[in-house]
Amino acid sequence: MKRDNKFIDRHRTLIGILAIGILALAITMSNLTQDPDTNSSAEYLRSVADRIRPVGQVYMPGEEVLASRPQVVIAAQSEPVATTMSGPQVYNAACIVCHATGIGGAPTVGDTAAWQARIVKGNDSLYLNAIEGYIGSTGSMPQKGGRPDLSDDEVRRAVDYMVAELQN
Ligand code: HEC
Repeated sequence: MKRDNKFIDRHRTLIGILAIGILALAITMSNLTQDPDTNSSAEYLRSVADRIRPVGQVYMPGEEVLASRPQVVIAAQSEPVATTMSGPQVYNAACIVCHATGIGGAPTVGDTAAWQARIVKGNDSLYLNAIEGYIGSTGSMPQKGGRPDLSDDEVRRAVDYMVAELQN
């Protein structure tokens, strides 16, 4: 008993510090393990919402955008790019090679005389020959000018363009 008292006397400060430390630890632990459900103050809920909010947010055109949020606004979509080509576009892409210079006997654009005999046969005949290809008296016109990816309408538009050029 005497020795115990002596020990306590000698180590009073140390024991005091240890006791305070344990108390502090216990308080910290109880704070950490507190059930979040019991803490539903508006401030707490707001802080949680703020912590788990997504980094970015997508807004569609016309949607209201909160100024406080990071903003990624999608620009209004423009009209889809036309996938079909106009007459001049087709001509420049697929027909000009032969029909500008007359390669292989192709009637050149603007050569009225060369076209006159063809035009009198009618547009349908011109369209058909351009779409399906044919071998004529001056040379061989490949199917769709060698561009099977062109639609029939695109070829027709190119023919219209070539014929219209004659009248200029
Ligand atoms: C590889 C060369 C070549 C290309 C490319 C070409 N043509 Fe021709 N085309 C010809 C030749 C050669 C003729 C003449 C054939 C004949 O009458 O002997 C011809 C004739 C034509 C005719 C006259 C048909 C008729 O009934 O007399 C039309 C219309 C025509 N081409 C349209 C086109 C169009 C449209 C394109 C592009 C999509 C095209 N061609 C691309 C070589 C070509």
